[in-house]
Amino acid sequence: MGLEAVDPDLLTASAGGNVTTPSGMVLDGAKDTIKAPPVTSEGSDGDGDGVTNEIPTSIVDFEEFYLLNYFSPATYEATETTAQGLRLFQSLGCAQCHVQNLQINHDRRVADLATEYDTVRGIFNSMYSTATPLVMSMSDGSGFAPLKSPARNPFMVTNIFTDFKRHDLAPHFTNATTTGRRRNCS
Ligand code: HEC
Repeated sequence: MGLEAVDPDLLTASAGGNVTTPSGMVLDGAKDTIKAPPVTSEGSDGDGDGVTNEIPTSIVDFEEFYLLNYFSPATYEATETTAQGLRLFQSLGCAQCHVQNLQINHDRRVADLATEYDTVRGIFNSMYSTATPLVMSMSDGSGFAPLKSPARNPFMVTNIFTDFKRHDLAPHFTNATTTGRRRNCS
């Protein structure tokens, strides 16, 4: 989103550390290459836009969690017109990058969140969320409650229309708001 925040958890993980963030995300710098946050103090202006402390540290992790678990794309009514549009989209080659249904081999999440329009149970704007656990219980013999870790099963993300990769779409596609830097991740 172009907003720069001080993120001590990201800093720890980028240096190879293992952290569990306030929203429960596990960042393991020993397993993944994690980029350092763009700024390391509230007073620094990493992108030189004259604005500092663009997101308070207290909410940056929850903001990231929200973006990662954002509402799934609207499930539209499938008609002959939408089917025709999808066929055109595929025949033009759009689906090479905008992969409609993306296969995840090992799902690292602990739950699948779904947010649906529900006029009876809905809490905010008639939206109601459910979480389906994706964990595996295992006893470690300690006598305490069993450990629960991600089951890491395959998961098909439907109607996502992305491959989450970066693509160079050539200079004419450079986003006007990110001068000097090509924004090219879908
Ligand atoms: C080479 C890979 C590639 C192909 C092929 C491709 N796109 Fe994209 N598309 C992208 C990327 C990358 C972005 C994100 C660009 C950005 O945010 O600056 C994008 C963004 C979009 C967006 C905006 C989505 C949003 O949520 O903001 C639409 C709409 C779109 N593409 C439609 C199409 C259509 C229609 C086609 C086929 C004619 C197509 N794309 C072909 C890579 C591709």
